[in-house]
Amino acid sequence: MANIILHPDWYIPESFATPESAFLNRRRFLASMGMAGAGLMSTAGIGCAKDEPAPATKPAAGTAASSKYPAKRNPQFNSKLELTKEEAAASLNNFYEFFPNRAADIRKLTGKFVTSPWPIEIKGLVDKPMTVDAAELVSMFDLEERVYRFRCVEAWAMIVPWTGFPLSKLIEKASPKAEAKFVRFETFNRPDQAPGMARTLNSYPWPYFEGLRMDEALHPLTMVVTGIYGKPLPKQHGAPIRIIVPWKYGYKSIKSIVKMEFIDKQPKIFWEALQPAEYPFESNVDPSLPHPRWSQATERLIDSGDRVKTLPYNGYGDDVAKLYAKK
Ligand code: MTE
Repeated sequence: MANIILHPDWYIPESFATPESAFLNRRRFLASMGMAGAGLMSTAGIGCAKDEPAPATKPAAGTAASSKYPAKRNPQFNSKLELTKEEAAASLNNFYEFFPNRAADIRKLTGKFVTSPWPIEIKGLVDKPMTVDAAELVSMFDLEERVYRFRCVEAWAMIVPWTGFPLSKLIEKASPKAEAKFVRFETFNRPDQAPGMARTLNSYPWPYFEGLRMDEALHPLTMVVTGIYGKPLPKQHGAPIRIIVPWKYGYKSIKSIVKMEFIDKQPKIFWEALQPAEYPFESNVDPSLPHPRWSQATERLIDSGDRVKTLPYNGYGDDVAKLYAKK
């Protein structure tokens, strides 16, 4: 991938890397920042708090093509960084469909969530609309592993090995028309399987929806993710399929996608619909632009608790800043 720089600044120094045995849950860490509790969990607040871990993390049952894991790590995205411990990332999830307004271990709430079969509809301004099962998608593409920084809008961060393939490859298959300027993504709508959704039917505009500009969706850093830590995605991380857009705040990386629609107008996004001043469509990581309620200058690594400087575009500026250059 020619435009990925060789020594990017997202190779944060070893001294900031997550220590071997550390586990600091996000609730403890948020508490240390004065951010835990009901305040931030109000309607239209994106609670990124995570709670006590349950003992095990399993890939979602029925996940097909598991023979493709672990996928080979792409050395262009292989940093010297120590990864966030799997248990910390796996137990501290943010998935509003399962927990609406307080910290909880999402793993304990996903028992009824059925992730196979999982048809995904690809439609709108494309020459080749299709409906394809997530398992089939996994078999259609070569999978690779990439280590990315992940930055939540609420100032925590992790370094995670995602498995998947560039979203551009899937978009190519659908063959978008010239008028397609945006992609809108949508998550499942099953309150019977998702207790958070069931409890907030009247206050949140379910199902969760997100969007990207076409150039953002086609950017080589934007991934369709089907696995993490060398295994198929567990439910709490958005099984069986999600996207990761590493230079944007975490809420842009929508989980458990069932629909992708190519459109000509900028779509609303879930959090923007609730709180437009706090969660705009673009939402690139920007340390110089405080959230209306807190600074974005620094972030805490979730397992060590170390505070590090937040980087513009989450450290991916050399690759993506040109997308936002004023014309
Ligand atoms: N996607 C859906 N469908 N529902 C959600 O609540 N939360 C977002 C994003 N994608 C969310 C979602 C937010 S706010 C964050 S920070 C990340 O998922 C968290 O991803 P993780 O739990 O895998 O760390």
